[in-house]
Amino acid sequence: MKLLQARNIAHHYDYQLFEDVSLDLDSKESVAIIGKSGSGKSTLLNIFSTLLHPDKGSVKLFGEDVTRMRPKKLTQIRRKDLGIVFQSHYLFKGFSAYENLEVASLLAKEPIDDDLLEKLDIKECIFQKVTELSGGQQQRVSIARVLTKKPRIVFADEPTGNLDKETAHVVMDLFFEYIEKHDAGMILVTHDGELAHRCEHVYKLQDKKLLKVS
Ligand SMILES: Nc1ncnc2c1ncn2[C@@H]1O[C@H](COP(=O)(O)OP(=O)(O)O)[C@@H](O)[C@H]1O
Ligand SMILES: [Mg+2]
Repeated sequence: MKLLQARNIAHHYDYQLFEDVSLDLDSKESVAIIGKSGSGKSTLLNIFSTLLHPDKGSVKLFGEDVTRMRPKKLTQIRRKDLGIVFQSHYLFKGFSAYENLEVASLLAKEPIDDDLLEKLDIKECIFQKVTELSGGQQQRVSIARVLTKKPRIVFADEPTGNLDKETAHVVMDLFFEYIEKHDAGMILVTHDGELAHRCEHVYKLQDKKLLKVS
């Protein structure tokens, strides 16, 4: 099943970031995108995940062109089917970690998965206020929040940036286990070549093109 089909995507801000970018994602598939800082990785992920409209090209999610989709349908897809882990986690600061998960759980009508909290090692701190948690704990809570929704595609922008190497690998294990178990797919943006190469395919944004590395 094709989860994502992007064709001939181009985008610019002050300068042209990339042109003619095409990418496919199937279920149970993981794709990593690497590239220098400023090459446009986050921008490309925002386009794939419907948060940004590209200058050119089309993005199909689950067979439907999102660049032409009605706003209501788009909101539904974002809420239910897409899990976006941002580079800076947008948790609700006044709430506890658990309350943040409850919001996702209510919106998606999916239960909070105790096993997930265990694996992410956040059971101990789950009732603390977000502001009391370390950067690494906040990042793991935001990953738990995204996976609680049971998304069909996980978009992750440097999801392990605040984590030590060992924890980063534990988080990657969890993502791979998740996509396998739920027939989901993942697009991971990272500057860490070692983590990238754990994905099935690796692409690099370079010279305004998305090149296949492996
Ligand atoms: N919303 C925006 N408005 C203007 N310029 C932007 C915006 N978002 C990103 N850029 C610029 O686009 C370039 C690529 O940014 P980004 O996609 O974040 O790259 P990366 O994630 O690879 O570091 C940078 O020069 C950045 O300043
Ligand atoms: Mg970025």
